[in-house]
Amino acid sequence: MLFGRPHLLGLEGLSAEEITFLLDTAESFKEVSEREIKKVPTLRGRTVINLFFESSTRTRTSFEIAAKRLSADTVNLSAQASSASKGETLTDTARNLAAMRPDAIVVRHPSAGAAHLLARHVPCPIINGGDGAHEHPTQALLDLLTIRERKGTISGLTVAIVGDLLHSRVARSNLFGLRTMGAKVRFVGPPTLVPRDFAELGAELVYDLHEGVHDADVIMMLRIQRERMNGRYFASLDEYSRLFCLSADAVARARRDVIILHPGPMNRGVEISSTVADGPYSVIMDQVTNGVAVRMAVLYVLVGRRKDAGAEERAEHAEHEEGEDHPGASDRAAERTGGGHAAPATPNPPGLAARGRELS
Ligand code: CP
Repeated sequence: MLFGRPHLLGLEGLSAEEITFLLDTAESFKEVSEREIKKVPTLRGRTVINLFFESSTRTRTSFEIAAKRLSADTVNLSAQASSASKGETLTDTARNLAAMRPDAIVVRHPSAGAAHLLARHVPCPIINGGDGAHEHPTQALLDLLTIRERKGTISGLTVAIVGDLLHSRVARSNLFGLRTMGAKVRFVGPPTLVPRDFAELGAELVYDLHEGVHDADVIMMLRIQRERMNGRYFASLDEYSRLFCLSADAVARARRDVIILHPGPMNRGVEISSTVADGPYSVIMDQVTNGVAVRMAVLYVLVGRRKDAGAEERAEHAEHEEGEDHPGASDRAAERTGGGHAAPATPNPPGLAARGRELS
């Protein structure tokens, strides 16, 4: 087994073997969504709670679809519908949910560190669905899967991530994942939104859009996160879009086979023009499709393959790996990465982790 961790809290510190294993597993789940009956019994009898304290279209829906396609029971809880609106702390919410014996909790929260906090209080796997400006690991995994599908590899690519880097959990998770997989990462935006200390983590910092996307293999656009801004970072939205909106003219500076990603939600005309968003280089809808497969893989790896899973279920998984219900990703991943060793506990790189865990 190439992923021995109990939770998925971030991509910081994951090894290339662990990321490859998750991507291979996701790739093998893609065909389930192409079937007429889009369901396998892998997580039958398991319960997944989606605990969302922030709005979400893609992450929440795709986690729910992923869990349902694996036959798990799903429960959705939003901040407005939970007792958080009556003053209950996140820790108390976590303890109460744990008392109902879920098999996994997906959490999205506006505060960095929320997923880590839950992981300390709840015995089941915690999956970070985005915590403040800290990490969004499944988004980065689906980005990596989309890049690998289109380019055949991640190693050696130049990836320009453009926009509001300062407030972006997507950028942080992608920086960790892309660097670990051997890509070169450029952070592109105005100096107020591209913090200098990102350079310590191995990103090249560029403050001009055309220079930043020059010869890039991949361009990932980020939206301006006005809900996380507590100051003025640029004179006006008009000025920002004049300087940093990705137009066809800017795309022409990149490599001829460039692909354009955006995690969504997009602000058309602010960070990306409709011509580019809907154009031939855009793989934005592929990202959304891959989101379901990635989340199926993460649920399968954390819940379906836990050490305490029952013997009956282990037998069922073995059967699926041999037969039609499970695509047999673990075997293929082991072949590709050279064996079934336990995941190493790699040290965290400096900087972002400590800053991100505001809640702990
Ligand atoms: N990319 C992303 O996290 O989108 P949602 O906020 O819609 O989940």
